[in-house]
Amino acid sequence: MTTFDITNSKQSEEDKALQEALKASGAIPEHIAVIMDGNGRWAQQKGGLRILGHRNGVASVRDITESCAQLGVKHLTLYAFSTENWGRPEEEVNGLMKLLVATLESEAETLRRNNIRLVTIGQCDRFPADIQKKLDEVKALTADNTHMELCLALSYSGRWDITQAVQHIAQKVAEGTVLPHEIDDDMISEHLATAGKPDPDLVIRTSGEFRVSNFLLWQLAYSEFFVSATFWPDFRRDELYNAIESFQQRDRRFGKLSKRHTKSIPSSVIRTLMS
Ligand code: FPP
Repeated sequence: MTTFDITNSKQSEEDKALQEALKASGAIPEHIAVIMDGNGRWAQQKGGLRILGHRNGVASVRDITESCAQLGVKHLTLYAFSTENWGRPEEEVNGLMKLLVATLESEAETLRRNNIRLVTIGQCDRFPADIQKKLDEVKALTADNTHMELCLALSYSGRWDITQAVQHIAQKVAEGTVLPHEIDDDMISEHLATAGKPDPDLVIRTSGEFRVSNFLLWQLAYSEFFVSATFWPDFRRDELYNAIESFQQRDRRFGKLSKRHTKSIPSSVIRTLMS
């Protein structure tokens, strides 16, 4: 199994030039989150079992992680196993678990060498003990790394995340350390599994589906979306570059007026429009 490397000597001159052009043409998103979808349909098209799609999806995980690190993305979050995925046939769930362990084993040293920190969000305590142990080992091995954070959402769902945050805040209210009127956006963000991370700037979903699927529900409030028709096992860096290029052309207003408009419209007119 080949590994990824930020200083990969195998990186083509053409790819280097594409990355430089992308960096020059606009801001690189600080946080990219990916809903990796279409593994099952990819396998079905090849006449194979669903696990074949998941196995081939690992090559995409590697390519996207490597190219994000090379581009200077600081946070990459991958939706690798949702709370709902526990409801899949036992054979598929077990296959995914084995694949996770095998990938952690084969890629741990590469993550360490490339200064990438592995973290997780989700109910990892629902995983078998050997998987938790492997995750803890790789997290510890890479804990001091600073170039990029690779966050795997494992046994994760947005509703679970919000629920556990509400439970923790309610506990503090019951103990009298937080007053109800003190609860605000920032406090809720600080109690989510993603506490301390910036919200995703760009969310990519593969396989042509236009759904959020219980991903980072709170955190996606102002994220830009890019949907690719490609199934995840075929998704490679050329499509990542398309997604970033599209992101660079978006006019992010965060519910306000764009700079383009605020420059030309007198403030009195803006006040009238907003009233
Ligand atoms: C969704 O496709 C994908 C998953 C539920 C699992 C994603 C896992 C991997 C890419 C491999 C392992 C990842 C790591 C980080 C080691 P789907 O099965 O829902 O596809 P379908 O919609 O075509 O059925």
